Amino acid sequence: MGTLIALEGLDGAGKRTLVGAVVKYLTDGGLRVGTLDFPRYGRSVHADVASEALKGAHGDLANSVHAMAMLFALDRSGAVGELSDLLAGHDLVLLDRYVASNAAYGAARLHQRGDDEFVGWVTDLEFERFGLPRPDLQLYLDVPVALAQERARGRESADASRTIDAYERDRGLQKRTGEVYRDLAAEDWISPWWVLTPDTDPDTLAENLTFLKKEHGTP
Ligand code: TMP
Repeated sequence: MGTLIALEGLDGAGKRTLVGAVVKYLTDGGLRVGTLDFPRYGRSVHADVASEALKGAHGDLANSVHAMAMLFALDRSGAVGELSDLLAGHDLVLLDRYVASNAAYGAARLHQRGDDEFVGWVTDLEFERFGLPRPDLQLYLDVPVALAQERARGRESADASRTIDAYERDRGLQKRTGEVYRDLAAEDWISPWWVLTPDTDPDTLAENLTFLKKEHGTP
C-alpha cells in the first residue's frame, strides 16, 4: 500500500514543476511513484464544468462557494477507485492539489479561517461521505502572493489554453487562501504538513520522502 502525499499551494506557486522534479528523483532511485492532478480536466465532467464556470460560463454558478466546492469534490469522488488502484500499485502517490484545496479556497472566499465551519463541511463531505482516502502527508508550497500571481500571468501569455480564471485574478482571495493554508498546516489538519519555501530543493525534498517511506512508513 503506497503512501499518499498531497502538494498544495496558490495558483502559480510552482507545484507542477516541483512534482515533476521530485517524481524524477524518486523513480531514478527505483521507487514506484504514481501521480494524479486535481481537478481532472478532460476526464471529469465536474472538473470541466468548474473550470468553465471560473472563466465566466454557466450563469451565476461560480458565485456559489458551496456549488463550486461541490463540483471539485464530485470530481474527486469519481476518482476513489483510481486512487485506490494507484495506492495498491505504487510506493508513493503524489497528488497535485487534493481536498485541502477545497478547504483553503472555499474558506478564503467566505472570509473564514482554518478552524471555521467551511473546513468542517469539506471534511465531512469528502472524507466521511465520499470516502476519499486521507493523505499521509500534506505539503504546502508557501510562495509570496505577488510571485505566484506573476507566474500565473506569465503562464497565461505563454500558453493560450491556460487563461487566468476568476480565482487567479483575485489577489485578495489568493492572500486569504494562503492564510488558510498556513492555518491548516499549523494545526496539521487531517495529517502532518510540511511547509516548503520557494527555494526548496526538489532533490532534498525527494530524499526526505524516501527516508520517511523507508524508515518510518508514515510520517
Ligand atoms: P488549478 O488552477 O489547479 O487548475 O485549479 C483551478 C482553481 O480551482 C484553483 O484556483 C484552485 C481551485 N480549486 C478549488 O477551489 N478546490 C479544489 O478542490 C481544487 C482541486 C481546485
